[in-house]
Amino acid sequence: MVQIPAMKRVKGRAPLSVVVAIIGGLALAGIIFTEDLRSITEIAAKKEKAREKKRTSLPARTRASTTRLTVAEEARPPPPKKAFHPSRCSVTDGYWAYDRSKKLLYTDETCPYIDRQDSCQRNGRPDSDYLYWDWHLDDCSLPRFDPLRALEKLRGKRLLFVGDSLLLGQWLSLVCLVNSMVPYTARSMERSSTLNVYTAAEYNATIEFYWAPFLVESNSDRNIRLGADGRVLHVDAIEMHARRWKGADILVFDSYVWWMTGSRIKTVWGSFDDDGYEELDAWVAFRLGLKTWANWVDANINPNATKVFFMSISTTHMRSEDWGGRAGGVRCYNETRPVTRKGYWGSGSDRRMMEVMGDVLGRMRRVPVSLLNITQLTEHRVDAHVSVYTEAGGELLTDAQRADPETHADCIHWCVPGVPDTWNQILYAHLFL
Ligand SMILES: *[C@@H]1O[C@H](CO)[C@@H](O)[C@H](O)[C@H]1NC(C)=O
Ligand SMILES: *[C@@H]1O[C@H](CO)[C@@H](O)[C@H](O)[C@H]1NC(C)=O
Ligand SMILES: *[C@@H]1O[C@H](CO)[C@@H](O)[C@H](O)[C@H]1NC(C)=O
Ligand SMILES: *[C@@H]1O[C@H](CO)[C@@H](O)[C@H](O)[C@H]1NC(C)=O
Repeated sequence: MVQIPAMKRVKGRAPLSVVVAIIGGLALAGIIFTEDLRSITEIAAKKEKAREKKRTSLPARTRASTTRLTVAEEARPPPPKKAFHPSRCSVTDGYWAYDRSKKLLYTDETCPYIDRQDSCQRNGRPDSDYLYWDWHLDDCSLPRFDPLRALEKLRGKRLLFVGDSLLLGQWLSLVCLVNSMVPYTARSMERSSTLNVYTAAEYNATIEFYWAPFLVESNSDRNIRLGADGRVLHVDAIEMHARRWKGADILVFDSYVWWMTGSRIKTVWGSFDDDGYEELDAWVAFRLGLKTWANWVDANINPNATKVFFMSISTTHMRSEDWGGRAGGVRCYNETRPVTRKGYWGSGSDRRMMEVMGDVLGRMRRVPVSLLNITQLTEHRVDAHVSVYTEAGGELLTDAQRADPETHADCIHWCVPGVPDTWNQILYAHLFL
């Protein structure tokens, strides 16, 4: 088994690395595979290095146009596109295109809220091309994120994200996307272990994040348990968390990666006695937990007053052989370009878990929940994870840790800014047009 800095210490301080048994198991296979390949690929790696050197020494403009040329070759010529409409446009069918002239709405230097876990540039990531890719839909044009318009639409509203550290990244991204338009004196941020609240006073709007990685209750929600062994879920209990979600105007949920931290999930029913647990397959437990969540939403949310979204699986990239990674590549470490192959799908998104998600959400009758299917677009982005430019145990990775990506590269979380901005662009398109 492999230790990876997987999930978040909510508090920001509490160290957390979780043994991800399934993902870790796959990664282990990957390491052995890579080990065998190393001698064979050494020469190729040298060539790649020489090419990389040449590339980075080009002036920025030349470099950009070279890359764009390559991308244009790979992407199909753009057909005329329809204006975006949530029910007529699939956000799944699309492609990433590089645009060095893209204006970033914020960086991890200009936005003061980004956690060290996600602030790759500040943490010393040397390359920055990963910041300049846009997700384009095949048939529709995805509108750009307009921070002023978003704030106007959020006026008097409470937008609440509920889920795990991947969603926390999306929350930070949204806060940062609008933050530059909020007067310095009229913004505030309050963080605690469960609820984090960003307020734009002039708009009487809040953008909040509530920590509930399984959505349902578990014995590790407050005092996070590293290994899956001591963790026990209450797949039929949600009220302790859910009572804090009432009154939100917009709810955005996610839950996936924590269910994948062991092949079996321990669960108890009704009572809070953690000893008499039953072990279930992850996808079985996930179905039960998600049903509990769906029942709560159906019973407690007024669909006329609250819009509800669910983010689909955010892909992990633990096996570089899935995409034929760069020479010497380990997991997502050292990747600087997305996999642009149309419809690329590796092993980092569990299809069965995806089916459960689609099935449970599809059965909700009273409250319509929009599944924002971001999985395909994340599949391509092997280049945009935090990798070794992150922290472990509350400290930046040391040089020695960085030199050991087999153990320390985090290929679950994303740099912010980065891919979560695109998730928010999609949320924006569903909410604010
Ligand atoms: C601010 O928004 C809340 C709902 O989030 C509402 O109850 C309140 O009346 C609003 N206040 C003002 C001054 O608009
Ligand atoms: C939502 O609005 C519709 C139409 O205005 C109304 O018929 C329905 O009862 C409302 N539902 C709830 C739960 O308030
Ligand atoms: C990662 O890339 C850098 C620069 O391209 C190179 O020096 C280093 O050897 C690579 N690491 C591995 C493990 O291949
Ligand atoms: C999300 O999109 C992927 C890729 O297009 C698809 O395979 C999957 O079934 C979709 N998920 C759901 C729940 O619809």
